[in-house]
Amino acid sequence: MKKIISLLLCGLLVLSFTACGGNAGPGSSNNDAVDAPDTSSEGETDGESDTLTDRTQYDDPVESSETSEEQVAESTDVGTPAGSNILVAYFSLADEQYEVGVIEKGNTQIIAEMIAEQTGADTFSIERAVAYPTTYDGLLEISREEESNPPEIAGTVGNMDDYSVIFIGYPIWWGDLPTIVTVFLESYDFTGKTVIPFCTHAGSGLSGTQGTVEKLCEGATVEDGLAVRGRTAQNERDSAESAVTDWLRDLGYIE
Ligand SMILES: Cc1cc2nc3c(=O)[nH]c(=O)nc-3n(C[C@H](O)[C@H](O)[C@H](O)COP(=O)(O)O)c2cc1C
Repeated sequence: MKKIISLLLCGLLVLSFTACGGNAGPGSSNNDAVDAPDTSSEGETDGESDTLTDRTQYDDPVESSETSEEQVAESTDVGTPAGSNILVAYFSLADEQYEVGVIEKGNTQIIAEMIAEQTGADTFSIERAVAYPTTYDGLLEISREEESNPPEIAGTVGNMDDYSVIFIGYPIWWGDLPTIVTVFLESYDFTGKTVIPFCTHAGSGLSGTQGTVEKLCEGATVEDGLAVRGRTAQNERDSAESAVTDWLRDLGYIE
């Protein structure tokens, strides 16, 4: 009898180890530990997802069509109509930018204003119907998305016919024009006009955008562009101003 009882007890012990072994598989705490890096990478994704949240919030012109229409209706003309036949149209972002930290005025805007001041030109700021994110990481992401999902621009140059010379300014993004600038250039007929590109950058210079502008502005005369490093525009204004002056003089727009 004692033998039978001890055999039964042994059997129960074996069964309970087997059961524990089974539990140690799929739901094991070891696998949780292996998953831990995933969890932390979810944490990073949360970080990204802040950016993604920003992006989703900003990057849905369809959902925000009311806002877009409102903005378009409010700004169908250039910002500072001064009766000039020269227009400086530019795309530029403040907030967090490469090399310069958080800035109040975009690098390209600084150059655009110098050109407008020296030539007496009107200005038009190319703005997205749904605002861009304010972080550099957010811009990196949305700029890539825009390549396959072009943004809508808030407002139009209602009197483009009045301008015979158009300076077009932009930051270099991924060695190219930001998609929003391509959208802008595709929205008008520049035949017979003079178009002059200028950019700010972090080392790439014009990076082939002179040719891109030429292609996009078929029928226009495209003059030699100017490239200014973003941090020079932002932090060494005298030096940037000299570069602008020399360039405008070479082109014959100032004496
Ligand atoms: C999405 C993105 C992509 C960029 N790609 C480049 C690049 O390919 N080459 C470069 O020199 N600078 C690049 N930059 C830096 C900007 O051209 C530079 O900071 C510029 O001065 C920003 O001008 P803004 O303040 O007028 O927007 C990039 C910046 C961003 C946000």
